[in-house]
Amino acid sequence: MKTENAFRATRPDRMADTFAADIVAGLTAKPKHLPPKYFYDLAGSALFERITQLPEYYPTRCEIGILQDNAPAIAAAFPPGCALIEFGSGSSRKARIVLGAAATVEAYVPVDISGDFLQQDLTLLRRDFPRLKVHPLVEDFTRPFAIPASLAALPRVGFFPGSTIGNFEPDEAASFLRHIGDVLGIGSLLVVGIDLIKDENILYRAYNDAEGVTAKFNLNLLARINRELGANFNLCSFEHHAFFNSEKKRIEMHLASGKRQSVRVDRATVEFRAGETIHTENSYKYSVESFQALALGSGWSPIEVFTDGMFSVHALRLTGRR
Ligand code: AVJ
Repeated sequence: MKTENAFRATRPDRMADTFAADIVAGLTAKPKHLPPKYFYDLAGSALFERITQLPEYYPTRCEIGILQDNAPAIAAAFPPGCALIEFGSGSSRKARIVLGAAATVEAYVPVDISGDFLQQDLTLLRRDFPRLKVHPLVEDFTRPFAIPASLAALPRVGFFPGSTIGNFEPDEAASFLRHIGDVLGIGSLLVVGIDLIKDENILYRAYNDAEGVTAKFNLNLLARINRELGANFNLCSFEHHAFFNSEKKRIEMHLASGKRQSVRVDRATVEFRAGETIHTENSYKYSVESFQALALGSGWSPIEVFTDGMFSVHALRLTGRR
């Protein structure tokens, strides 16, 4: 675990500076917006875990079902002795399903900026897959990173589940797919999960659950800014708004100010009009065809798609530079 500790020793200050700068930039922009990656502090990750268990929030359940039902077929596409590289691994729960069916995988490389979640998981992973080389990387997976030299010769399979790619603007998603292509190399395989366009009411309820957990998850971003930047957001005067933007095929999440107010955030004063919102997340939805077209535009050819009608898991191969 040498790498992780080395990174932990040098990185936190710079990460705190980036957080402050990103938050102030987003809150002083017009319209106001904040990066969804900042939802996932310890409290936010716990709230997201609760979201995945809500009756209304189908994506996690559906994707896990698809992976379980199709793990042998997915594994059959893997080249023998490959390295499975997961972008943003979280708890590795979904990788386990694939790994359980793919005895041929030689190494598992979870790449995640949060070293904490990774650590507790590793012991259990090594216990359950004793012949697997587990090589975690504490990296921002959206930036270029090197595959460890000891694994560099292995054929590569990327894994990017969770519909996380739906958080990107379509052009950013295309660049990100190109970036994954740069990291993995020509001929590599990529297994990626993306939520499907569907009945608006189902989509709406998935982001407006009856228990209000998604609202808490959204508002926790302000709580985090209070905690980490000493800001004075009054959480009671902001409201969770989530709706499907049918033109852009995305769920938008916002935090709406209930009144005119000003908030101090890290030496800046941020003014809110009554009803003004902070746009906190986009969650783009695709059809099987629109996602394949996006992938193809980034050099990834569709190999197979697995779907239950609600969610899709795509197997793609990097065939060209676009
Ligand atoms: C983790 C980005 C896939 O977009 O559905 C859940 C995050 N936001 N509820 C999603 C989320 C509100 C989730 N992703």
